[in-house]
Amino acid sequence: MRVILPMPGNEAMARALAERLDAELGVLDWRRFPDSEAYVRIASDVRGKRVHLVCTLANPDPQMLTLIFAAAAARECGAESVHLIAPYLAYMRQDKRFNPGEPVSATHFARLLSQNFDSLVTVDPHLHRIGNLAEIFSVPTHVGAAAPLLGHWIAQNVDAPLIVGPDQESEQWAAEVARCAGAPHVVARKQRIADEQVRVELPDLTAWSGRRPVLADDIISSGRTMIEASRVLAARGMAKPYCLAIHAVFAPGAFDSLTHLSDRVVTTDTITHPSNQISVVDTLARSIET
Ligand code: R5P
Repeated sequence: MRVILPMPGNEAMARALAERLDAELGVLDWRRFPDSEAYVRIASDVRGKRVHLVCTLANPDPQMLTLIFAAAAARECGAESVHLIAPYLAYMRQDKRFNPGEPVSATHFARLLSQNFDSLVTVDPHLHRIGNLAEIFSVPTHVGAAAPLLGHWIAQNVDAPLIVGPDQESEQWAAEVARCAGAPHVVARKQRIADEQVRVELPDLTAWSGRRPVLADDIISSGRTMIEASRVLAARGMAKPYCLAIHAVFAPGAFDSLTHLSDRVVTTDTITHPSNQISVVDTLARSIET
């Protein structure tokens, strides 16, 4: 028997997963003490059951202790096993020591989760220098792929699209989105100068001048990548782009700035955001069932 247990803010995703999986929807009582320490209590009977905590990990720091306490509480209540469903998995971009003195945060974050959960299900983690989550997690991991979902959405909603991958790293992924959309694709070159400063160069687009550019990326965080790419497309005389991403991280102000430069901003629901148009519920459910 499965219990799907939402961490605060993850109730809608947990409800949808419980319905899709025909599983029990559990209840977690949660509040903060006056000194801001976290209180959690498993308010459902989880004895002998497989507990799946649902917690998307955008803005992870304020959530982590609460999540770990909830996992511990489930074990202390006699759960058969305790699993994490994290539609967005944080800290994967810090996958090397870029400067002396930095930790490789991705490995430490993976170790922390592996110590507290029996498995992880997520959607398209940002894997660049780390080839596979198994390299950094010591528990089983299951990764759902969102490229087909984006490709399908584009095929249904955009006339004559041209998929534009915003950087060299996105080549394979943009190609898969394009294949699923039945559209051509190009890939830009991106140089990140600082956290909020990027330079984007596009290849020759003359052959695609009649097409609608669709920028497709895994994450929109500061938004600078999409914003700069949209500006460069406008300078080339292309139509206003559609901006599609899997994970709607969106730092403050990023969504508004991007909205002005694009025709439409569309994301999946791995992180709840007004731009969510594409559901990953079925993708997650299939990963959980494996
Ligand atoms: C980086 O390689 C990722 O694929 C995204 O392009 C990046 O995370 C987007 O970040 P931002 O919105 O801050 O430019």
